[in-house]
Amino acid sequence: MSEVSKGLENVFIKTTSLTYIDGEAGILRYGGYDINDLVENCEYEEIIHLMLFGDLPSASQLQKIKEKTNESYNVPYQVFEVLEKLPHDADAVGMLETAFSMLSSFYNYPWKKDENKWRAIEIIAKTSTLVSNIYRIKEGMKPRLPEPSDSYARTFLETAFSRRPSDEEVKAMNATLIIYADHEVPASTTAALVTASTLSDMYSCMVSALAALKGPLHGGAAEATFEQLKEIGDQSKVEEWFDKKIIKEKNRLMGFGHRVYKTYDPRAKIFKKYAEEIAKTPEAKKYLRIATKLEELGIKHFAEKRIYPNVDFYSGIVFYSLGFPEYMYTTLFALSRVLGWLAHIIEYVEEQHRLIRPRALYVGPIKRDFVPLKYRE
Ligand code: CMC
Repeated sequence: MSEVSKGLENVFIKTTSLTYIDGEAGILRYGGYDINDLVENCEYEEIIHLMLFGDLPSASQLQKIKEKTNESYNVPYQVFEVLEKLPHDADAVGMLETAFSMLSSFYNYPWKKDENKWRAIEIIAKTSTLVSNIYRIKEGMKPRLPEPSDSYARTFLETAFSRRPSDEEVKAMNATLIIYADHEVPASTTAALVTASTLSDMYSCMVSALAALKGPLHGGAAEATFEQLKEIGDQSKVEEWFDKKIIKEKNRLMGFGHRVYKTYDPRAKIFKKYAEEIAKTPEAKKYLRIATKLEELGIKHFAEKRIYPNVDFYSGIVFYSLGFPEYMYTTLFALSRVLGWLAHIIEYVEEQHRLIRPRALYVGPIKRDFVPLKYRE
């Protein structure tokens, strides 16, 4: 026991039947199904069933998932009251952490095998209510409970914007939800697993996961990537910006690189396609042009180090085109990823449970004689 794996690289913390990643070939599958097929053909609710119950649902199983989400959107009014009292410029992820932490005091359910998966669906529904209302509150609108519809994606957009979204917007939102739904055990899922391993409640696990997601090296990268596009400002400035910021100043190119993928992240390709479809305004098209040029330069410069665009490179343009401000990007990631967090902690607690308690290799002084304060220099 004398090797430290820095960043826990290549350490297997659990087995899983949820998500398969081939980082060399750029392949991502949920339960054996290719991510491209799922995004093209499924509703997010089908992925909820796949992740929690192990299979794509039949029509009647899908109906049951939809009924359960539709009846679970309510959250206690005290949560809205607290969110409304936070400063106007409160961080959106911080607001979601606050809300989850409040819900852990309302719904502090113990783990029970015949209830866990249905509790998870309740959390997924309530996350939609929370994220849409964080947007509303920050934009000065009154909080409102969602009105159930035929789709989770549609209900979310309708609640946030108080208007009927177009079919194209629902399609893009649904794709976003599926693309981000799970990614094996990144930092946020690992944080949730550590908390779940103590048998803490599911909402507390979501708080842990969110805290880890927030950082710019993980879920915060979508916002940071979009910031880059804004900073560059115009397609004609990309080369100059890249030369100064990335080559000379050696800053990280946000939206590039991944611990597991050593080639193009397949999710980045799907987001690019949706960005191209949904970027309609001159401003959105401008960001798309900047991103496309930046991608070209990034690949030219970094391909040798096997650093390629990741999921967050184009997602911001989709979020922007849907009408969300940058401060919402990480919460939109979380809205989808709660599914992966919950599916992994349930898989772990129900099938493989053991307290997660690693060791730290001590490298300090072995033994020292104690010196009373008055004799210390
Ligand atoms: N720009 C410039 N250099 C990079 C980048 C990048 N985006 N990513 C990795 N590198 C370099 C890094 O400087 C280091 O170089 P050297 O060996 O010369 O010191 C080498 O690649 C290895 O870096 P690392 O940080 O040890 O590698 P990692 O496996 O921990 O990297 C990462 C993963 C995501 C932290 C990193 O690629 C990164 O910081 N990317 C930018 C932030 C980002 O886009 N994050 C989203 C990740 S995907 C979605 C998600 O997880 O939420």
